[in-house]
Amino acid sequence: MSTEMRRFRRDPLTAIEHLRHRARGDVFRLPWGDWCVGDADLARAVLRDPVVNDGMSAFFGALLPSRPAQVAVGRAVRDLVRARVPDFRHGLAAAVAGLPADSAWPEAGIDLVHRAMADLLLHPGTPDATRWSLARAARGGVLIRPPRVWQRARAEVLRGRLLAGVAEQVAERRARAASEPRDVLDAVLGACPDGMADRTVAELFALLFRAIVAPVGCTVAWSVLLACLHTSASPWPWPVDWVVREALRHRPMAWMVVRPAPAGFGDVPVRSGEVLSVSPYLAHHDERLWADPDAFRPDRWAEPSGHGPYLPFGAGRFTCAGASPAQVLITGTVAALADDARLTVTGGDTRPVMADGLVPRPFTLHRRAKEVNDHDRCVAPHLHEPDRP
Ligand code: HEM
Repeated sequence: MSTEMRRFRRDPLTAIEHLRHRARGDVFRLPWGDWCVGDADLARAVLRDPVVNDGMSAFFGALLPSRPAQVAVGRAVRDLVRARVPDFRHGLAAAVAGLPADSAWPEAGIDLVHRAMADLLLHPGTPDATRWSLARAARGGVLIRPPRVWQRARAEVLRGRLLAGVAEQVAERRARAASEPRDVLDAVLGACPDGMADRTVAELFALLFRAIVAPVGCTVAWSVLLACLHTSASPWPWPVDWVVREALRHRPMAWMVVRPAPAGFGDVPVRSGEVLSVSPYLAHHDERLWADPDAFRPDRWAEPSGHGPYLPFGAGRFTCAGASPAQVLITGTVAALADDARLTVTGGDTRPVMADGLVPRPFTLHRRAKEVNDHDRCVAPHLHEPDRP
């Protein structure tokens, strides 16, 4: 393994910053051979370039036959999730109430989001065995690539069971179609082209399950970790919305998106067919475009301007279909955790683990119910009084 590769494994963010600073042009080679765009303005331009972003989105792999089919599935799932935010909030209240006082993260964050979304992913009328295999998959390494070989092997088995159960459901639901989508599986089934194999529909469902729960859960984890490491005040001195926006800037789960490189790109000898990576992380840490980019400072979002390129959900033609509901789900979850509770962390580290994105290293979240002191008792009734004319 090369020195660069070892450095990447140890601390990917310092390693990529190092490569960018050492590069002579706007584009440089990553240790595994792909090209990476180092300049933030160029990164944004690449994501918006009609030639680079021609054809189909790599997000769906080979599961769908055309770009219109990709767009239809993305929108159907986005609309379903958006319409069911009130149900998510309801599920969240129960999931947060069941969280132990000391919980192991980031797994607890993924589990919390999965519990709150369980009925939205597969509605309660779905056979228990299939809903159970979804829960097992969420906890067993299917959402975030685990570090050890045996864990990855176990995750493959769980994924296989999930796909088999969901494919059976697809066959049943096709025989008795619902008039309105009841869950993400109905939304996928209703939007994908006729004649698609049951197993392919199940794979699409599994792809979206992962694309929703993993980044939402990890961003919740980054938000509580970074906020707790930067203040001991309770409540936090910033609105939750700023904390989440800043966490998505400082530690974007999707830290690298890839595109097929056009030949002769930039000032380097890029060959057609090579891979061009665009890093939202680098764009968010460009000192020419962001003030104090390496600091976690939620209060920067108090200012309406002065922000550099902000790409946690990508940009351009293939931008995240679920960006706006994602923001609502993350903010709602962090708010539910912080509400009426004092949050502290131990074992926290701001360096990520590389596992299909920037994943926080293990930490413990301590959540204690806030004591109502005499002052609170005295002012609380007035706080809830409606405004008088
Ligand atoms: C923190 C949460 C999330 C993050 C950080 C995130 C990030 C991203 C990014 C960066 C892309 C673009 C990849 C590229 O340019 O190649 C993407 C695509 C996509 N995301 Fe998300 N996502 C999140 C949540 C969600 C949610 C909640 C949904 C569904 C409701 C969703 C559905 C999609 C879909 C369908 C695409 C493919 C869009 C297309 O190619 O047409 N994502 N996501």
